[in-house]
Amino acid sequence: MYKLIAFDAYGTLFDVYSMGQLAEELFPGHGQALALMWRDRQIEYTRLVTMSDPSPNGSKHYLPFWELTIRSLRYVCKRMDLDLTETYEKRLMDQYAKLTGFEDSLQVLKTIKQKGISTAILSNGSREMLATVVQSNGLEPYLDKVVTIEEVRLFKTVPQAYELLLKAFPVKKEDILFVSSNAWDALAAKWYGFDVFWVNRLGHPFEEIGEKPTYAGNSLSQVLEVI
Ligand code: LAC
Repeated sequence: MYKLIAFDAYGTLFDVYSMGQLAEELFPGHGQALALMWRDRQIEYTRLVTMSDPSPNGSKHYLPFWELTIRSLRYVCKRMDLDLTETYEKRLMDQYAKLTGFEDSLQVLKTIKQKGISTAILSNGSREMLATVVQSNGLEPYLDKVVTIEEVRLFKTVPQAYELLLKAFPVKKEDILFVSSNAWDALAAKWYGFDVFWVNRLGHPFEEIGEKPTYAGNSLSQVLEVI
């Protein structure tokens, strides 16, 4: 019986690829590719910053996730030869700030709370951007805590990032189920020692290294079947 269900934010509760629609409107014919490359570059920047100085006091190269998201957008537009005007950048980032949640995000959190189990987000996101997206999706009442890596200034997948959940809640590793749609995040959380649920909406194969996730399913709602 889990005492805490902790969710990754971007891609898991909130639909990052929905950015593709607006990107398509601004750059017809390039929306999908832009959204994919943007996401990849954003995550690559988190790894670059973390691995280049994984010191216990945080990376000296640290920039908040919000900033890395802007920088990666700029990079990708240059790379794809797309003219990212100030207005376009603002429109894309305004939408990123208020990303839509997946249709079952609210109901899943609500049901877990009704069962008397604690809920949290553990995200690379900066505090302010997480507060905005949680609020705009009305999830606040159903989350006990929003935990961000901001205080360790090192991004997932360093162990210190996952450890933040043990500092934020009076629970043991085995009391936690970590839920992520990002296979790399699910894998690293499993390596860290959590049971994990991998939300595989797109029917992708799991990574070819490491341990398989404890559970997997094609929607967030399926988490309710294992708790
Ligand atoms: C997060 C990103 C990695 O929310 O999805 O941590």
